[in-house]
Amino acid sequence: MKRRIGLHSDDRPKKWYNILADIKMNPPLGPDGKPVGPDSLAPVFPMNLIEQEVSQERWIDIPEAIQDVYSMWRATPLIRALNLEKALGTPAKIYLKDESVSPAGSHKPNTAVAQAYYNKEFGIKKLTTETGAGQWGSALSFAGSQFGLEIEVYMVRISFDQKPHRKTLMRVWGGKCHSSPTNMTKAGRAVLEKDPDTPGSLGIAISEAVEAAVSDKSGATRYSLGSVLNHVMLHQTVVGQEAKKQLESVGDYPDVIIGCAGGGSNFAGLAFPFVYDKINGKEIDILPVEPLACPTLTKAAFAYDHGDEAGYTPLLAMHSLGHTFVPPPIHAGGLRYHGMAPTVSQLIVSGLLEPKAVSQIEAYDAGVQWALTEGTVPAPETNHALAQVIKEANKAKEEGKEKVILANFSGHGMLDLSAYEKFLDGKLEEVELPAEVLERAASVTAQYPKPEIFK
Ligand SMILES: Cc1ncc(COP(=O)(O)O)c(C=O)c1O
Repeated sequence: MKRRIGLHSDDRPKKWYNILADIKMNPPLGPDGKPVGPDSLAPVFPMNLIEQEVSQERWIDIPEAIQDVYSMWRATPLIRALNLEKALGTPAKIYLKDESVSPAGSHKPNTAVAQAYYNKEFGIKKLTTETGAGQWGSALSFAGSQFGLEIEVYMVRISFDQKPHRKTLMRVWGGKCHSSPTNMTKAGRAVLEKDPDTPGSLGIAISEAVEAAVSDKSGATRYSLGSVLNHVMLHQTVVGQEAKKQLESVGDYPDVIIGCAGGGSNFAGLAFPFVYDKINGKEIDILPVEPLACPTLTKAAFAYDHGDEAGYTPLLAMHSLGHTFVPPPIHAGGLRYHGMAPTVSQLIVSGLLEPKAVSQIEAYDAGVQWALTEGTVPAPETNHALAQVIKEANKAKEEGKEKVILANFSGHGMLDLSAYEKFLDGKLEEVELPAEVLERAASVTAQYPKPEIFK
């Protein structure tokens, strides 16, 4: 039985899969409640990426320069977790698509490289961005170093303090990293005035990075987002396309697909090429997994809301805990986001996905079980996917079914060891979602138009 399944270089994807060709979506809205046109996004993103954001073409060519950088680590291996299967005594086959082998240690470079390339082509010199866990900031710094772009990163304060080595990694690749909220932007100063001890949030860091980009009047700076947007999901679909071919090569097809979901990108990257199959008649359970402490998909309503704290972004139709919500400081920074990719949200509304939530302790338990059986140390975000993998494998055992489970191993945790240390010392606590959050979310989103429900 093969433990590590590769892919011949001829079989690597040459196109990205665009799910917008296959689903109906609510458009992003401007402050006047009307759909925003591509031109209004031009100060924030280069036009070539805006065109991708709204494209309805099902397959989009991957430029050779991007394929060339991808070939530094792609195709990523598909791992059959034989030891974990044995330890669980499950008849299920467990496969993990290992995105941790990229230079930055996660799936994030798949879109970072594409975004750096398109910005460079458009004549942009500098990109600003946010980062939660530091994975995205380091991925964009790596991509910037490949294409000669300056990178400035606003890193959520709690992660900036918890993960000093991620900042160093950004610096190694030439990126500059600030602890967000900063005093450098209007959005940051407003938050610090209200709450000087805030742990920060992705919503706040996004506001700061957008503001920093549009304030450069030379026009040489744009903003880059590591998740949520359509073009980010698009770039990640190399993951699912490769996995499909790798499974085919061993005669398998998934019954269950699992990915952790912060803004939705690693989940979408693995799942969307299979959602295409599900739309066309295949039976698959497709499960995005989030933290119980930030339950966007499992608890929040589908509504129009801003993607950032200050309300600089257009209104997006998504599940949202409210753009002013500062998620509790759980040790999975990349999953502390109030909103979700509109594409992922729309698929939930259509009943094609079944969201799940796991607790912080369940997630770390799963991460340690993985390390003890399969050897590698997963990222805290990835642990949420692994917790659900273990639940599904145990369910298959109870049902006596030889199911095929496919999940995304979105990143490694070698720079997250302080959180593992807390967990091993019994100092990692369960974090509850404050009860009033959902009411507050409803009052935040009540002021905006209601999205249409497309089934
Ligand atoms: C390793 C890892 N997995 C998952 C995520 C969550 O993001 P997304 O939902 O966009 O994949 C992050 C975000 O920082 C991450 O670093």
